[in-house]
Parts: sequence; C-alpha cells; structure tokens
Amino acid sequence: MGINRNIAFLGSVTIIFVTLAAVVALWGIYSLNNAFISLHQYEITTKIETIKIFRDVNYVSRLTRNIMLGSDYDDDMQELVAIAGTITESFDTLTRATRSAIDQKLVKQARIDTAAFVDNCIERMKRIKDVPADQRNNAYKNYRKVATPLAMKSRASFRAIIQNADLRFDMGNKQFEKTIYRTLIIIVVAGILIAVFFQLSLRRYKERRMEEAALRKAHQRLEQRIAERTADLVLTNSTLLEKIKALKTTEHILRESRDNAVQAGKLAVLGQMSAGISHEISHPLTAIHTFTDNATNLLERGDVPEALENLGIISRMTDRIGAIVAEIKLFSRKSPDKKQAISIVNALNHASMLVEPQRRQLDVILDVQPFQETLQVWAEVVRFEQVLVNLLRNSLDALSEQSNKRITVTVTRHEPEIHIVISDTGTGIPEEVIPRLFESFVTTKPSGQGLGLGLAISHMIITEFGGKLTARNPDAGGAEFTIVLKEAIDG
Ligand SMILES: Nc1ncnc2c1ncn2[C@@H]1O[C@H](COP(=O)(O)OP(=O)(O)OP(=O)(O)O)[C@@H](O)[C@H]1O
Ligand SMILES: [Mg+2]
Repeated sequence: MGINRNIAFLGSVTIIFVTLAAVVALWGIYSLNNAFISLHQYEITTKIETIKIFRDVNYVSRLTRNIMLGSDYDDDMQELVAIAGTITESFDTLTRATRSAIDQKLVKQARIDTAAFVDNCIERMKRIKDVPADQRNNAYKNYRKVATPLAMKSRASFRAIIQNADLRFDMGNKQFEKTIYRTLIIIVVAGILIAVFFQLSLRRYKERRMEEAALRKAHQRLEQRIAERTADLVLTNSTLLEKIKALKTTEHILRESRDNAVQAGKLAVLGQMSAGISHEISHPLTAIHTFTDNATNLLERGDVPEALENLGIISRMTDRIGAIVAEIKLFSRKSPDKKQAISIVNALNHASMLVEPQRRQLDVILDVQPFQETLQVWAEVVRFEQVLVNLLRNSLDALSEQSNKRITVTVTRHEPEIHIVISDTGTGIPEEVIPRLFESFVTTKPSGQGLGLGLAISHMIITEFGGKLTARNPDAGGAEFTIVLKEAIDG
C-alpha cells in the first residue's frame, strides 16, 4: 500500500520534471527560431538594400551615358544628383542593417567604391556642362577608361556583400539545424538518464523497504528474545532467591548441628573420661573418708594438732575435687564464648588437668617445652581447650601400648602466627586414615572408645578461629599435630 503511494509520488515528480524540461527545451527552440528569423530578416534587408544600391548605381551609369549621348543635360544632371542622394540613404540603411563585423567592413568598402564611382560621374558630367550636345560623346572614351573600372569595382563590392549574406544565411541555417538536433539529443539523453535514475531510485527504494522490513523483523525477534530471557532471568532469580533461602536455612541447621556436634563431642569426651575422672574424684573421696575417721579418732584421743593436720589434708583434697568439677563444668558448657586473646599457658594447664587421670594411669610423660608465658592467641577459651584435650587424648590413646611414652608440646612464635605442636612417641597415624583424618566418624578405635569426631571437630574449631590444623607422621616415629593461630598482642 505504502510502496505504491511512494512509487506514484516518484512517478509524478519525474513526469513533472520531464515535462518542465521539454517545455524549457521547446521554448529555447522557439526563441532560437525567432532570433534566427530576425537575423534572416536582417539578411534580407541587407540584400534588398544592396540590390537597390546596385540598381541605382546602374541608373547612375545610364544617366551619365544619356548625358554623354546628348540628352537633356539639366534634367539628367538633376536626376543624377538625386540618385546619388538615394544611394547615400540606402547605404545608411544598409550600415544599420549589417550586424557582423565582416558585413560592416564589406559595406564600408562598397560605400567607398560606390562613392568613388558616383562622385567621379557627377564631377565628369559637371565638366561637360557647356559642351554642345552633339560633341559630348567625345568624353565617352575617357569615361570608359576611368569610370567604368570604378563602376566594376563598386559592383564587385556589392557581389561580395550578397555572397557573404548568402554564406551567412546558409551557415545560420546549418547552425540552426545543428542546434535543434543537439537540443533534441540532449532531451533524449536527459530522458534516458531520468528513466535510469527513476529505475535506480525505485530499486534502491525497494531494497531499502526490504532492509527496513528485515530490520524490523530482527528487532522484533530481539525483543522477543529479550522478553524470553527476562522471563528466564526472573524465573532464575526467584529460583535463586528460593535457593538462597534454602541455603540460609541449611546453614542455620548446619550451625546448630555443628554446635550440637561440638557439644556432643565434648560430652563424648567427658563420657570417655568419666572413668578416669570418677577415679580422680573417688580416690580423694576415699582418702577424705579415711582422714575424717582418723581425725575423729584423734579428737577423741585429744590429739588436736594431729587432727588439725588431717583436716588440712581433707580441705586440700576437697579443693582438688572442686577444681576438677569446675573444669568439667566449664568444658561441658554449651554456649560458645567470644573470640579473644587467650593465654596459651592457661589453656594448656586446664587441658592437662582434664587428661591428667588418663596420663597418670598410662604413666605418660607430658613434656611442655618452656616458652614465653605471656604468649596469647586469638581464640575462644573453652573450644580452644577442647581442641587441646582432643589432641592430648589421641596421643595418650596412641601411647597406651608403647614402651616409650612421651608427649612433647612446643610453642613457638612465627610472626604474626604462633605454632603449637603436640607430638608423641605413639604408633603414628594409620596410613589408611591420613587422607580422611579430619572427616567425621573416621576412627580406628574399638566401638565405645572412639567416635571419630575429635579431629573433625578440632579442625572445624581451628578453621573457625582463622587458623590451621595439620597432622603428619615424622620420620622419627609417632604422630605430630600442629595448630597455627594468629598471635594476639595486648594493647
Ligand atoms: N596421635 C595419634 N597417633 C596415632 N593415631 C592417631 C592420633 N590421633 C588420631 N589418630 C587416628 O585418627 C583417628 C581419628 O581421630 P579422632 O580423634 O578424630 O577420632 P577418635 O579419637 O578415633 O574418636 P574420638 O576422638 O571421637 O573419641 C583415630 O581413630 C586414630 O586412628
Ligand atoms: Mg580422638
């Protein structure tokens, strides 16, 4: 629909243009024609005037002859002078009618030549005015000698004018035809060019329409794809949001589970240590019982100083039991403390106290290498002690069957970190366990003695502190665990 309207418009413009061009060309031809006609008229005027002068000059010859043949002198002389005047007027008209330089030159020459002849005739006739009529013919001889060549020269000048006029007319004719042909050729060529231009414009227009249509289609496709992608994205986004929500829930569950696992680990440790702990407590309790009986007997006997000494021993033993119970209470507390600067010495002392019954039972040497007691790490007291207890207990377990039973603890500074190395002279970590050492429920201990949680929980705790827990079996034998934590410097 739109395409047809545009073609019609283009067609109309072209037709108007061609029509205008044709009108202009025809008008041009018409003007040229007019100009040519007026030029032609000038040529005709020139010819007529020339012929008139030619005739008059002939008349001058005839009058002169008449006089010389004895005609009426006065009449013919009068006529001769009059005709000379007419010739002068004719030359004036001729001069005005001539346009081209060559014509003017020819006319000028003819005027001079004619004037020479006419003046000569009049002069000659004036001279024979008083000669009797029958003797005037004597002058003819002289006339023929001088005036006739002048007359001939004058006529030759007229012929030159006429010839030139003819020539110019022919040339003008040819020029006119040439111009018309040229104009027609120009119109035809212009028409062809316009047609070609019209064709090309039409083709280009069609191509552009097609390109536009293709572009519109591509644009629509793109928009559709964008809409699809947006829908996809919205869907993905909502799925992602759901996933994030699920992940957060999972994370929450995981944190709770992990805390529970840590707690369970601690309780498991306590459960496993309960025999040792109860032994540690029951031993002083039995002693207290004995010392109380002793004190009673001594008081009955009145031996007060001895009784007081017994009571002092009872008090110290009670303190010891109190300390053990306090450690257990602290260790089993659920809520985690905040990360803070922890004294390594204190943490090691507390952990040692918890494993003390087992150590004593197995007769293991716990060798804590001297180190700067003010050293601190960034950790959380209870959980850090829990890690130390786990590692010490593992070492004690590995030493139960050994002859050389030693646990060595070294603490060294490696700015900005502190390395705590717990090594033992035990069996070393079984090869098959090493790749999964820090995974949960990996144990080589008989059921009831190990859950396989100690190292998993310890690794998790140290990682949470921003530190590292690694293990290896040194060439010298036994196992070696290294805790790396950031040093905490007061102030
Ligand atoms: N110092 C060590 N020497 C030799 N083997 C060790 C040592 N520490 C750990 N292991 C090995 O690594 C295993 C995993 O230790 P982990 O502390 O995680 O669990 P567990 O001691 O078996 O049980 P749980 O600690 O839960 O009571 C142990 O069963 C043991 O085989
Ligand atoms: Mg363990």
